[in-house]
Amino acid sequence: MEKIIRPESMERITTPELAQKFIEEQIEEIRTHVGDGKVLLALSGGVDSSVVAALLIKAIGKQLVCVHVNHGLMRKGESEQVIDVFGKELDANLIYVDAADRFLNLLDGVADPERKRKIIGGEFIKVFDEEAAKLEGIGYLAQGTIYPDILESDGVKAHHNVGGLPEGMEFKLVEPVKLLFKDEVRVVGEALGLPHGMVYRQPFPGPGLGVRCLGAITRDRLHALREADAILRDEFDKNGLAEKVWQYFVAVPDFKSVGVRNGKRYEGWAAIIRAVNTTDAMTATVEDIPHSLIHHITERITHEVEGINRVLVDYTPKPVGTIEFE
Ligand code: XMP
Repeated sequence: MEKIIRPESMERITTPELAQKFIEEQIEEIRTHVGDGKVLLALSGGVDSSVVAALLIKAIGKQLVCVHVNHGLMRKGESEQVIDVFGKELDANLIYVDAADRFLNLLDGVADPERKRKIIGGEFIKVFDEEAAKLEGIGYLAQGTIYPDILESDGVKAHHNVGGLPEGMEFKLVEPVKLLFKDEVRVVGEALGLPHGMVYRQPFPGPGLGVRCLGAITRDRLHALREADAILRDEFDKNGLAEKVWQYFVAVPDFKSVGVRNGKRYEGWAAIIRAVNTTDAMTATVEDIPHSLIHHITERITHEVEGINRVLVDYTPKPVGTIEFE
């Protein structure tokens, strides 16, 4: 396949006005390309697929069918936000698939990170495939491919993210933001009226909390991880760190340590905080979180989250650590 090149003459989208112009051009282009055809989109709720969804809803309304697969490894409130924004506010044709049990049953007892990734990616395609097979008359598949995906691979986003093109399905591709860089996608997303938090969301790996619930995932530990991560995100939001720090999250290892609560022995997991800055994810430096904030987050996590009795902070840059733990 020939590589798509962004023309040098293409202006960088840095302002709402330029974004508006881009949106209008794309609406025209999408309408011409798709006609009265039906378009399918796997909507994860990440920046790129959300912007593509909003753009397509504007261009072709209910001819777009969005499928949101909840693999049970989303962060707290993410699937709910997809339903609120796309299903309710934008009145999209949204199919919500709660596949958490399917994924968690398959992952039961699996500790190897690459096997976990394979299971999650493979099952995602299966679920998406099954949903697509139930639909009639779909001729197009929309993807949130962005220009760095093209530069880094052969242009198919599926390589790094969960999911991909279901095998054996004949779709024409719709990739309206494929020539844009991430910062431009964000400007377009804001011009389309998507919530700021959705457009400026930190990167989140396709396998989601699955690679942060270290080792073999258990439902109780996954629940504790989700709650602790939500507290960290809440505190980063409140303290102006959310937009300053590139990626910040909690990981929970699969061992317990002894603690004490209300005068009694209390065994629990540790919540490990990781907050890093990077430009390309190849190297990363550790963000200096104010100590008072770490104390506050520790207090909240250990008091509010069942099963967690310690909070640790990871100070390892990349290299030698990777950003994720597995
Ligand atoms: P590492 O851990 O390799 O991460 O330093 C670099 C960046 O890639 C993200 N990451 C993933 N993203 N699927 C994804 O879509 C994955 O399996 C995956 N593993 C790591 C990570 O969050 C960081 O932004």
